[in-house]
Amino acid sequence: GLPARVRIHEVGPRDGLQNEKTTVPTEVKAEFIRRLADAGLTTVEATSFVHPKWVPQLADAEALFPQVRDLRGVHLPVLVPNARGLERALALGADRIAVFASATESFAKANLNRTVEESLAIFEPVVARAKDEGLHVRGYVSMCFGDPWEGPVPVQQVVRVCRALRDMGCDELSLGDTIGVATPGHVHKLLAALTERQVPLSALGVHFHDTYGQALANTLAALQYGVTTVDASAGGLGGCPYAKSATGNLATEDLVWMLHGLGIDTGVDLGRLVATSEWMADRLGRPSPSRTLRALSHK
Ligand code: HMG
Ligand code: MG
Repeated sequence: GLPARVRIHEVGPRDGLQNEKTTVPTEVKAEFIRRLADAGLTTVEATSFVHPKWVPQLADAEALFPQVRDLRGVHLPVLVPNARGLERALALGADRIAVFASATESFAKANLNRTVEESLAIFEPVVARAKDEGLHVRGYVSMCFGDPWEGPVPVQQVVRVCRALRDMGCDELSLGDTIGVATPGHVHKLLAALTERQVPLSALGVHFHDTYGQALANTLAALQYGVTTVDASAGGLGGCPYAKSATGNLATEDLVWMLHGLGIDTGVDLGRLVATSEWMADRLGRPSPSRTLRALSHK
């Protein structure tokens, strides 16, 4: 059966914008986050406390976060790659963080300049400290299905990294199909392997990119398996600057259209969400790839 309710983890302001070449003004980012919360999204990933040279678009995290942190009814997780990132996040009063691991060596190197083991060793005290401070911790795992340098990724390699993140105390994991190559059968195989290793479905989110047009099919496969947390990006913005061939995330509008059609509650007002993504597309100066957004567009 399908769940009665799905929690959407909106990643537009972070995963969506991190790839944009032209700098989006801090005020526009704050407005984007406010409008997403207004549309009923209850988790909006706000920014990253990473090295500003690595992701220049999010170099304004210190200026942005205080502009949105007091929004009611919405969680605002932020990405942190290491202890320095955690300090920056704590100094601003963030109460939810996400560390981001990789299932493959190639991407760990490209994204974090570390091996998989080295990055896990860096995350361990970060997660421990965050838990001591009472924070909620998400652990991303990238390249769970395929990797642009290494090809198909063995399921057990993904399970190992997921298990390590759970063992260090991550409350929730997000399974990233960073380059969008997954198909539904592969999703079932990974979820089966994870449940077998005592990773509960309630602690799993799925994070699909739509490169090959499979994101919604993969999402439905995950929901049928019992997952109830789905990552998506308003207007389908996004990609990853450190993964060649990564295009946009699953568009939140496309996700909401499918979920509401299935009678699944999201709390999202699709009209407001569409208006927000149209507004953002105008700011960015190009149309959104979301099919639902185009179908419902007022222009
Ligand atoms: P590094 O060059 O190895 O850094 O980068 P380092 O540890 O050697 O430190 C070098 C300098 O950077 C030091 O300064 C540090 O203080 C400073 P110096 O002493 O030379 O003056 N530094 C920092 N400054 C600010 N904030 C920090 C920080 N850390 C160190 N947090 C590092 C290592 C992790 C910093 C770098 O690789 C990095 O920032 N990477 C981030 C990459 C990123 O954000 N990628 C996108 C997010 S992941 C993603 O999109 C995938 C996802 O969506 C899921 C999916 O789709 O798969 C989540
Ligand atoms: Mg991503």
